[in-house]
Amino acid sequence: MDQEAIESFQAQAHLYKHISNYISSMSLKCAVQLGIPDAIHNHGQPITLSELVSALGADPTKASFTYRLMRVLVHSGFFATTTKVENDQEREAYVLTPFSKILTKEKVNCLSPFVVSMLSPAMINSWHFLGDWIQGTKERPFETANGKTFWEYMDHEPEFKTLFHDAMESDSQMMNLVVKDCKPVFEGLNSLVDVGGGTGTIARVISEAYPQLKCTVFDLPHVVANMPPTTATGNLNFVAGDLFQHIPPADAILMKLVLHAFGDEDCIKILKKCREAIPTEGKKGKVVIIDIVINVEKDEDALTEAKLFFDMLMMVVVTGRERTEQDWEKLFMAAGFSHYKITPLFGLRSLIEVFP
Ligand SMILES: C[S@@+](CC[C@H](N)C(=O)[O-])C[C@H]1O[C@@H](n2cnc3c(N)ncnc32)[C@H](O)[C@@H]1O
Repeated sequence: MDQEAIESFQAQAHLYKHISNYISSMSLKCAVQLGIPDAIHNHGQPITLSELVSALGADPTKASFTYRLMRVLVHSGFFATTTKVENDQEREAYVLTPFSKILTKEKVNCLSPFVVSMLSPAMINSWHFLGDWIQGTKERPFETANGKTFWEYMDHEPEFKTLFHDAMESDSQMMNLVVKDCKPVFEGLNSLVDVGGGTGTIARVISEAYPQLKCTVFDLPHVVANMPPTTATGNLNFVAGDLFQHIPPADAILMKLVLHAFGDEDCIKILKKCREAIPTEGKKGKVVIIDIVINVEKDEDALTEAKLFFDMLMMVVVTGRERTEQDWEKLFMAAGFSHYKITPLFGLRSLIEVFP
């Protein structure tokens, strides 16, 4: 075969792999919807194909199809295989890997809701309209696909809203793993407002770890309506409002995965509102941001790729973007802040303290 033919076949394989990448995502979603991670976990030992099919309540005639689903998920690292004896015969059996352990319900930070929400039809359909938007459609792809902006759609579609908040709650439960390491961030503060705090998962984790800290969750009225304070420590409350209008005053403002959902102009407006809400004289306050910082030079390729994918997601479903340190710095300075400190704590995310 000549060089041109070799290159063409290599290019074809590369192209077909990328065309098929959604099959990896959708196979994972299917496994989560079927409850495969829990079925393997609950089995308490490696599970054979026939045991798995039975645990899923599927007809035995579906065994060969389940096998094919598992084969692709083993290949992508979500499950692994070992052998065990069944009916005197050695058989292949499936076990969890670290990637599927975080999809089991026994984990407080089970990320299964995140998988289902991010791969819901409203999200996936939006991608068909990205090209139209780049060529001139006024509405963002999510709005073209679903008839409403992301935030309006959530207000009108209770099922989507529940899916989304379940996803954010599961993501925020990861804070449990690092909250004790964040002492220097929260110690010495008397009050904190979690702006765009959703249903309050992260504020609940922080208020339990730091009982002296009075925490307020601030979000849109339809999000915080009927939310009772539920911590044993009684230092958590919910306030409804619009972050573009007024942010309740506090020693510190927390924003997790909020600014990445907005464009630069909006972020500067929001950060100015945050600055108005914290003390800027005497013992100064601060803004604590938990969000992505793109760092192509330092991060491994896989991490950069995940960050760039989230950047695309913010473009397609909302009006936001993921930012490099330089991008963040421009926003902070434009909003009147003097300095900041970035701590890469949370895998994909960093914690950024911003000072007036
Ligand atoms: C991506 S979610 C993050 C939720 C939470 N911080 C977390 O990480 O789990 C963004 C949040 O911002 C809220 N939000 C969007 N626009 C808002 C506005 N204008 N005023 C207040 N909250 C808003 C949404 O309702 C949503 O809960």
